[in-house]
Amino acid sequence: MDKLEIIGGRKLKGKVKISGSKNAVLPIMAASLLTDDLCIIENVPRLSDVFTMARLLESLGKKVDFGQNILSITSRKSKSFAAPYRLVRTMRASFCVLGPLLAKRKKAKVSLPGGCVIGLRPVDLHLKGMESLGASIKISGGYCYAKAEPCLTGRHIFLGGRFGSSVLATANTLMAAVMARGETVIDFSASEPEVEDLTSVLKKMGADIKGGGTPQIIVKGRKSLGGFRHSVIPDRIEAGTFMAFAIVSKGFVTIENVIPKHLGAVIDVVKSMGQMVEIKGRKIKVKSGRKISSVNITTLPFPGFPTDLQAQFMVLLSLSSGISTVTEKVYPDRFMHIPELNRMGAKIFRSGPVAIIEGIKRLSSAEVMASDLRASACLAAAGLAASGKTTLHRLYHLDRGYENFTQKLKGLGAEVRRVKE
Ligand code: EPZ
Repeated sequence: MDKLEIIGGRKLKGKVKISGSKNAVLPIMAASLLTDDLCIIENVPRLSDVFTMARLLESLGKKVDFGQNILSITSRKSKSFAAPYRLVRTMRASFCVLGPLLAKRKKAKVSLPGGCVIGLRPVDLHLKGMESLGASIKISGGYCYAKAEPCLTGRHIFLGGRFGSSVLATANTLMAAVMARGETVIDFSASEPEVEDLTSVLKKMGADIKGGGTPQIIVKGRKSLGGFRHSVIPDRIEAGTFMAFAIVSKGFVTIENVIPKHLGAVIDVVKSMGQMVEIKGRKIKVKSGRKISSVNITTLPFPGFPTDLQAQFMVLLSLSSGISTVTEKVYPDRFMHIPELNRMGAKIFRSGPVAIIEGIKRLSSAEVMASDLRASACLAAAGLAASGKTTLHRLYHLDRGYENFTQKLKGLGAEVRRVKE
C-alpha cells in the first residue's frame, strides 16, 4: 500500500492535461458486450477501475488489450454470463454489464454491488429498467439472476428515483433497450455528459437513439449491433479537482483538454467565490483571487453542481471568508471527509445532508486517511493548502479515478512524493 507525502504552501503554476473520463469509459467498455465485433476505445485513462472492468469483460468471454491509452476489445468463444462478486464488489459500475448481457445473451448472473462509504447505492432503478423491458429477475444469494426469453421488448419507462435520475441505471437500461424488440421511451433519464458519450458509442454501433444526454431518450431496437472506434470525453471531475487545487494553493493553472460546457455549474461556483476563470476553447485558466468568498453549494444531477466535486470544494469553503453550507442532494451521507478535514483544523459541522463550514485562516498539516476516491482528492487539496507535511494514507482509493496524479501535481510545482507505507 502507498501513501502520498505533500509539502503544502506552494503555489501551483503551469499547465495540466486532463485524462479521459472514468465515468464515461466504464459503461462504454460494458457496451462492447453488445457485439462480437472489434471495439476500439481511445483516450482511456490508466486507472484501477478500468483494469477491473477489463478483467470483468475477460471473465465474460472478451479479449481486452490495453495499449498506452487505447483499449482493443475482441470476442473469444466463451459466452459466460456471470459477473462474480469478487469483481463487482470492488467496483459498482460492474453492475452495468447486466443490460448488455441481457440484450445480447438473453441471460445474466450479476453480483449485487452492495453499498459503500458514500451511501447505500441501491440498484432498484436498474432492476426496474430491466423488468420494464420484460426481463425476469430473481435475487438470491447476493446475486441478480436475469432472463430475457425470447428477447427484451420495448416499453415506456419512468426511471426517476427519490433522488432524481440515476446515471448508471440510465446507462444499463439504454444498453438493454438498443436490442429490445420495438420502441423504448426512457423518461427521467440522466443527462450527464457520460450518458451522452455512451449514446454516441451506441449510435456508432448502429443503434437508433434520440435524446441521449437529455431527460427523455427514445430508442428503436435493432437485431444486432457492430463494433466501434471512439475517443472518450475528458474527465470533468478531474478538471474540477484541479480547479480546486489551483485555488487552494493560491496559484494560476491552465487546465487543458476539457469541455467547458460540462463544467458550467462548477465555473459558476468558482466565479461566485471571487476567483478568476478564463475559458479558451478546450482550456480553462484558473487564477486564485485575493480571498475566497463563502458560498452555499447544493449538489444535484447534471447540469447541477456534481456530487463528485463536493468534497474537494469543501476545502475551498474551509478557507473562505465566512460561513458556507454544502447540501448533498445526491448522496446525503457523503461526508466521510469531514472528520479528517476537522483534524487539519477545519471547522465543519454536519446536520443530516447539510454541512455548515466556518471559514478559517489556514489548515494545518497532518497524517490523514482516505475513505473513498473523492475524499482522497479533497485531502490532497487540504495538504496543498496547509503549510508543512501532510501524509495521505490508503492511496489505492485515489488510484481508482486519477491517472498520473503525482506526476501531474509535480508538473504544476507541487512538492509531493509517493512512498510505500
Ligand atoms: C455515477 O454513479 C458515478 N459513477 C458516481 O461517481 C456519481 O457520484 C453518480 O453517478 C452521481 O453523479 C460512475 O459513473 C461509475 P446514481 P451511479 O445512480 O450511477 C440513487 C465517482 O466518484 N439510486 O446516479 O451509481 C443513488 O443512491 C463516483 O466517480 C437509487 O436510488 O449513481 C443516488 O442517491 C461516485 N436507485 C442517486 O440515485 C438506483 O437504482 C444517484 O445515483 C440507482 C441510484
